[in-house]
Amino acid sequence: MIPARARIAAVGTYVPDRIVTNDDLSLTLDTSDEWISTRSGIRERRIAGSGEASSDLGVIAARRALESAGISPGELDMIIVASLSPDTLFPPTASYVSAAIGANGTPAYDLSAACTGFIYALASGEAFIASGRYERVLVIGADVVSRMVDWTDRSTAVLFGDGAGAVLLEPAGGEQGIIGFDLGNEPAGRDDLKLPAGGSRLPASEDTVAGRQHFLKMNGREVFKFATRIIETSARQLLSEQGFGIEDVDLFVPHQANMRIIDAAARKLGIPAEKVFSNLERYGNTSCASIPLCLDEAEGAGRLKRGDLVLMVGFGAGLSWGSCLTRW
Ligand code: UT7
Repeated sequence: MIPARARIAAVGTYVPDRIVTNDDLSLTLDTSDEWISTRSGIRERRIAGSGEASSDLGVIAARRALESAGISPGELDMIIVASLSPDTLFPPTASYVSAAIGANGTPAYDLSAACTGFIYALASGEAFIASGRYERVLVIGADVVSRMVDWTDRSTAVLFGDGAGAVLLEPAGGEQGIIGFDLGNEPAGRDDLKLPAGGSRLPASEDTVAGRQHFLKMNGREVFKFATRIIETSARQLLSEQGFGIEDVDLFVPHQANMRIIDAAARKLGIPAEKVFSNLERYGNTSCASIPLCLDEAEGAGRLKRGDLVLMVGFGAGLSWGSCLTRW
C-alpha cells in the first residue's frame, strides 16, 4: 500500500435514551440547576441503562458509521476503542465491539488516555493509514462515565454523561484529510483526576469499596486551570507547525467538559463564538465520546462542510492533551 493522508470518511454516534436533568439531580444531591448551569453550562445528560456497558454504546455508533460509509465490518483493517470506562480491564472493549458487529479476525484493541482518548486513538489510526499499513480503521470513543462517578459527590457527579462516537478513517486524496496532531502529557498532574482502585496499584478489597476508591476523584480547580492553558498552547502550536492562522479555522471542536473552559479557551485564541461548536448543555462531559458527538451534530446541523478546516482539542486525566487539525 502507498502511504497516504487519512480522512474521516464517516461518523456515527449514539447516546442512551434516558435524560437526567439538573433538577433531577437536585432531588438526591445538595445541588441546583442554577449552580450546575452557571458553573459548567450543563443542563442535562444521558445516562445508560443498567445493562448497558461502553461497548454496547460503541457498537451502535460503530454500526451507524459503517452504514454511513457503506462498508461492511469484514472490510475493516483495525478497530481502536478509546474509553475510560471499559467493559472490563481485559479483554479489550474492542473485542466486545468486534464480536457484536461481526469483525472476527480484525485486529482490535483499547487505548487508555482518559478524556483525551479519542484524539489519541485518532492519531493512532491515522498513523496506520499514513504508513500505508492499513486502509480502513474504525476509531471509537465510548464511555459510560456514570458508572465511574460517585453519585454522593456533587462536585463530580453533575458533570458527566454517557455516549459513544465512531469515525471511519480511510486514505484520502487531494486536500481532504487529517493534517496533523499535537499530543502531550504533563504527569505532574496525574493525581488531579483519577480512579484510584481496581488496578494493580490498589486492587479491589473491602477497604477500597468502603473508602469509595472505585469512583472518579477530581481536583476540579487544577484540571480547570490546566485545560484553559493547554487548549490555547496546543492549538497555537499545531496551527503554527502546519502553517495556519487562527483565522483559517472554520470550526473549533473542543472536548466538552465545561462551558467556562470552552469560552475561556476560545477567547484566548481569538476564535469567534460562531466558529465554536458545543453540545455540552445536553450531554455533559461524555469523555471519549464528546468530540465525535460534536462532529456528528455539527455536520447534521450544516455547520461542518466539505473543505472546512476543523480544529479539535481534547484534554483530560494524565494530565493529557491532544489537538487534531483536519480538512473535512
Ligand atoms: O474531562 C476533563 C474533566 N474535568 C474537567 O474539565 C473539570 C474542570 N473543572 C471544572 O469544570 C470546575 O472546577 C468545576 C465545575 C468542577 C467546579 O467549579 P468551580 O467554579 O471551580 O467550583 P469550586 O470547586 O471552586 O466550588 C465552589 C463551591 C464550593 O463551595 P464552597 O467551598 O465555596 O462553600 C463547592 O463545595 O461550589 C460547591 N459545589 C457545589 N455546589 C452546588 C461544588 N459542586 C457543587 C454542586 N452544587 N454540584
